[in-house]
Formats: sequence, C-alpha cells, structure tokens
Amino acid sequence: MTTVVLKNISKSFFNSKLKKMEIVLNNISLTAQHGEVTVLMGQSGCGKSTLFRILIGEEIADSGCVSILEKEVFPLNKKNLQEVKKKFGILFQYGALFNSMNVGDNIAFPILEHQPQLHRDIIDIMVDTKLRQVSLEPEKFKHKMPATLSGGERKRVGLARALALDPQLIFYDEPSAGLDPIVSRTIDKLIKNLVKMLGIASVVITHELDSAFAIADRMIILKRAVPEHNDDWDGTIVYEEGTPDDLRNSQKPYTVEFLGEFSNFEICKNCRFVQQKQFTTCEKCGKPQSE
Ligand SMILES: Nc1ncnc2c1ncn2[C@@H]1O[C@H](COP(=O)(O)OP(=O)(O)OP(=O)(O)O)[C@@H](O)[C@H]1O
Ligand SMILES: [Mg+2]
Repeated sequence: MTTVVLKNISKSFFNSKLKKMEIVLNNISLTAQHGEVTVLMGQSGCGKSTLFRILIGEEIADSGCVSILEKEVFPLNKKNLQEVKKKFGILFQYGALFNSMNVGDNIAFPILEHQPQLHRDIIDIMVDTKLRQVSLEPEKFKHKMPATLSGGERKRVGLARALALDPQLIFYDEPSAGLDPIVSRTIDKLIKNLVKMLGIASVVITHELDSAFAIADRMIILKRAVPEHNDDWDGTIVYEEGTPDDLRNSQKPYTVEFLGEFSNFEICKNCRFVQQKQFTTCEKCGKPQSE
C-alpha cells in the first residue's frame, strides 16, 4: 500500500532581504510505502522541514496534492486531515515533550485527547506498553520528569508518545540530531524494528548519512538550485530516488557529490551495520565484506 503520496508540491516564501518571493520547493513528487522506511535527505536550507510541515498539515503548499493513508489532505480537507492525524505519529527533532508533565502523562496525553472516555487504569497499561516498545522500563521511567532524561531517553519517550495511538505511519524529523553516535545507532535500530514489528510506514528526514543508510529501504535526495551550479530551475527538486544500493552505485553527479562524505563507509550486506571500509569482515556479525 502506498501510505504517502505527494504530487507536484510547490512552495515559495517572501524573502525579506531580497524583497521578493523565493521558490523553496519546486514541483516535488514522492511516495512512501507501507512496511518501509523512506528517508528524505538534502543539504541544509533545501526545504526538508518545510516539506515535513506540509506533510503533517502544518504548512500550506502553494500547489499540488498530498494524500496520506489513501485520504486526500491537501488541497486542504479538514475532515480528512483530522481523521488521518489520529493515524500518524510524529517524532519532532527535540522530542517536544511537555516539561511540566512526567513521562507517563506525556505519553497519555494524545490518548486522553482522542479517547477521553478511557478509564485511567487502561491508559496506564497502554502507557506501559508504549514504554516497553521503545525499550524503557515503565516502573523506572514513567514518573520521571523530562528535564531529568538524557537526550536518547527523551527521543525514546517522544517516540513512545508518537506510538500512543497505534499509528500506521510515523514521521521523524532528524531523529539522530544532537545524539552521540552510539545513541544514534540505538535510535536507528528502534526505527527499523518498529517498522518490522508493527508493519507500519516511516518517513524520516535526516542529513546524517550513516543513519540514513542504516535505516532506509528507499532514499530520496533533494537538490536545491544554487547559482554556482548553473541549474536551470529555481528551488528544490527531487534529484534522485531509489534503494540505498541504487544510490550508492549512482553515477549522477550530485548524488556522487552528496554521498561523497559517505564514501569511506560501507554497510554490511548481512546485518546492515555501518563501518569504515578498511575492515574485511563485519565488526558486528563477522561476515566477510568482500564481494
Ligand atoms: N516561514 C518562512 N518564511 C520565510 N522563509 C522561510 C520560512 N520557512 C522556511 N523558509 C525558508 O525556506 C528555506 C528552506 O527552509 P527549511 O527549514 O525547510 O530547510 P531545511 O532543509 O529543513 O534546512 P536544515 O537542514 O538547515 O534544517 C530556507 O531558505 C528558509 O529560510
Ligand atoms: Mg530543517
């Protein structure tokens, strides 16, 4: 099933410095499938967050269509958007937890909002289940306040809250931003496991290439026109998309340039662990890495 369909989305903003409208997104079309992690990548300022806000209904595009879970939500259809919003979870960049509420209440919040009739005991059971899904022990964590959590724990609690309503789709905005590499890897694994375990779709926006390659089933590279490249378009376009292997073997100039930073690394074909090319066997599963 195609879970997200974006067709010909364009968006311009008024640039107050240049005193004119500037095209940010130029005719972007993309899809994300059920049971897959789709990763959107692109350089800073190319419009990833703008696209993210359009996807979750928090920004209005100038033209184009967005369908989520087979319902058209843009051009704006408030009824569909409200219905679809119950079926997707969002993990914001900094977890976006309510600092005045403990962990348990943060996770219970969306449940209470959509199902206020539920008994508190049932909600407690649901909260415990969500914490376990992100590998946090409920008894240890549900009474903690957000300010006392580490960066990785905050992300997990944010993810538990995104899972609260049993979503069919999760949007992630820069899930590994601000985390050290080891914690980033555990979040990557969690994203991958949730897709497998729950059979949902995930759309991840990131500019961290090693994370992207570790989690993606499909990758989409966005490219912004910049004067020195003499591109004959304005704004950001979808430059190339495909499986991680397609993109790693791509000959298209910008893909090669964009992934250049990644050229010292490879992904184990057996377990997808990311490591430097210098190793002949995978450090994690021990399988030989040569062809
Ligand atoms: N509300 C707004 N008003 C004016 N310009 C905006 C607005 N929102 C975004 N922009 C501009 O649109 C462009 C894309 O911004 P966006 O935040 O989507 O980029 P990004 O790809 O998420 O970048 P980063 O990787 O740095 O987070 C930027 O030039 C930004 O200044
Ligand atoms: Mg951004």
